[in-house]
Amino acid sequence: MAKRRRQGSGAQGRAEDALAPVRDDTPTIQWFPGHMTKARRIVEENLKLVDVVIELLDARIPMSSENPMLTEIIQDKPRVVVLNKSDLADSRKTKDWVAYFASKGIAAVAVDANKGRGLKQLVRKVEELAKPKTDKFVKAGGRPRAARCMILGIPNVGKSSLINRLAGAARTKTADKPGVTRAKQWIHIGRSLELLDTPGILWPKFEDPHVGLKLAFTGAINDTIYDLEQVVILLLETLLRDYPDRLRERFKLQDMPASGEELLALIGKKRGCLQKGGVVDLDKAQHIVMTEFRSGKFGAITLDPVPPMADSDAREAAHH
Ligand code: G4P
Repeated sequence: MAKRRRQGSGAQGRAEDALAPVRDDTPTIQWFPGHMTKARRIVEENLKLVDVVIELLDARIPMSSENPMLTEIIQDKPRVVVLNKSDLADSRKTKDWVAYFASKGIAAVAVDANKGRGLKQLVRKVEELAKPKTDKFVKAGGRPRAARCMILGIPNVGKSSLINRLAGAARTKTADKPGVTRAKQWIHIGRSLELLDTPGILWPKFEDPHVGLKLAFTGAINDTIYDLEQVVILLLETLLRDYPDRLRERFKLQDMPASGEELLALIGKKRGCLQKGGVVDLDKAQHIVMTEFRSGKFGAITLDPVPPMADSDAREAAHH
């Protein structure tokens, strides 16, 4: 991954602008084409071995944490969407996101891979989606077999955490039977499900700077590849616009500052980040904001709005 920075004039602007038009100074990230081709090839190889794909998204940014080519890569393989880190996301909005996916005919489950919430529902969904395939296999004369699935997602979305959680205490790896291209490790989940123990790592929608920004806010992008000050200021502007009460509460604010810069300086002052002569240590203040936001100290927040649903889609969602 590498950073591509656009020329710009610094992060100034009103809260409303924070994510609206593309700003000159928005950092973007890039996966090199070679990395993408290789990642895709590995995923496509493993896809042949599974009945169902578990697409892992970050519940705070379900749209921005998607891989832009997922449908093209998995084609008609059944998929279940996992909205992971749901403990950090706005639960009302997570519900709306689940309904949105249902309206598109895609099953979605809210999960907290750290605490293990939502896993039973996920396993049930995977089994349900795999059943037509395993049934067909038996009808064709095969011995009843477990459904097989794999996890796909962009870096940092919680793939390893979910695998470890699903594996639980009963994590026993068994080598695959010979005959498959390479020996694969499968984790047995209950009696009727097997999970590939290596997840597929795919790239995010790096070409969209707004997406890059949200990936930076949530920590999906390595902190060393963007300008932290820019990102923190834009995060604060977004929160000033969408979640002002959380800021008010967290930092005991009376009057809301008009810009992200002013708010950052105020937070620095309130938290005692002062250098010699009483100058605010902005560097320290930035780290405080980033750490507290990512660990959910500002409360549960969702940054991607749910797209509006057409009437017919809403009816479909109501049936799920
Ligand atoms: P990856 O394999 O997709 O790259 O992601 P990984 O599981 O390594 O998870 C990335 C970070 O996200 C980890 O935090 C992990 O604990 C956290 N995480 C995963 N699932 C959840 C979840 O449902 N809720 C919350 N709140 N966090 C989750 P880290 O700070 O990088 O590591 P660590 O402090 O957990 O060791």
